[in-house]
Amino acid sequence: MPAMKAGLKRFLGQVLAPGLRLVEPRDLLEALRLRADCGRDESEALFSSILVEVASIEPGGVKSLAGALGDETLVAAVRARSDANDSLFYAHHVFAEVDFLSRKHGCQPRSVLEIGPGVNLGVLFCFVAAGAEHAAGVDIEPLRDPGPAFYRSLRDYLVFVGGFSWWRYFATEGVHPGARFPTCENLAAPEDILARIDYRAPVPVDRLPFADRSVDLVFSIAALEHVPRPAETVAEMSRVLRPGGLAVHEIDVKHHGSADPLAFLSWSEADYLEKARPYGEGTSLEGILGGAWRGEIFCNRLRRSDWQALFEDRGFEVLEVETVLAVDPALVQRERFVEPFRSRPLDDLAVLSFRIVARVPPQ
Ligand SMILES: C[S@@+](CC[C@H](N)C(=O)[O-])C[C@H]1O[C@@H](n2cnc3c(N)ncnc32)[C@H](O)[C@@H]1O
Repeated sequence: MPAMKAGLKRFLGQVLAPGLRLVEPRDLLEALRLRADCGRDESEALFSSILVEVASIEPGGVKSLAGALGDETLVAAVRARSDANDSLFYAHHVFAEVDFLSRKHGCQPRSVLEIGPGVNLGVLFCFVAAGAEHAAGVDIEPLRDPGPAFYRSLRDYLVFVGGFSWWRYFATEGVHPGARFPTCENLAAPEDILARIDYRAPVPVDRLPFADRSVDLVFSIAALEHVPRPAETVAEMSRVLRPGGLAVHEIDVKHHGSADPLAFLSWSEADYLEKARPYGEGTSLEGILGGAWRGEIFCNRLRRSDWQALFEDRGFEVLEVETVLAVDPALVQRERFVEPFRSRPLDDLAVLSFRIVARVPPQ
């Protein structure tokens, strides 16, 4: 604690107006409140620089700080502080959503598996930081490491967003004597968190290198629409999940290569397979995002109802199917499609992206 205070004072000497005498951390908070009236850019830069230290300050002070700042300022501060690109926020958003759905359905995700993490391991990183004992990812295309700065920033961000909820609690509910503030010291170093992720590639999702009944939660975002063998994929997920284990998937079933989101349903299977190239075989997300690859990326063209039926056929209980994106069914024009799509109900065809939560029945 004395070392931290000394560090704080040194730090404040650099960032606060000359002549301001700081004796206690409490003074820092008062100074911050006053500085909140200064120009927006200036105050944000200031807050962004001190958030880590503030998270360690005694509760009474934090209470007054929480009253003085809004979330918008904090988010802006975190952005500035972490020098992060949007992938960082995306990773945390996906983690929060999947973790929430898992817990909502009574599954505590101790052992998690991500299918097709893509260009970074940010979501699995969040799961490990949140206490998962085993976090694995498989991808058909090996990842190029985004570099240590990405994971360092993500770790900082986790400290900050953890701090948000704590601050709200302390500001509104008072202080529990046993409660501790999240600080950078409580969370392992980014390289240690990363080292605990069991990432395997190239591995196709329909041949998972994991034991039967070893996983609590298997999840994916925008990956299952690309798998060439959907039935085998669902069977593999059922095999590795424990009884009561959950599958949470967001599946993007629109045509990836056209502004018309249903255009590919007009193509015969033979035409489509001729044009579309699967992931793996030299096609990677990184290449696509980098603009180096032009062409039609393979999607299996399964509709929402097909996925639901596949999960049910493999013995899953489907707990939720939520539409994320849809077109107006009146605009679908299904007479232009080939079979089997032409005969499908309009409200099924209208779905462009959805989330499915399915459970292996508990024994
Ligand atoms: C559109 S990216 C999505 C990446 C990431 N989940 C995200 O939300 O940004 C699809 C990912 O799935 C992977 N993938 C595609 N087919 C796969 C398969 N059969 N087995 C494992 N991974 C696959 C791709 O390599 C890619 O990383």
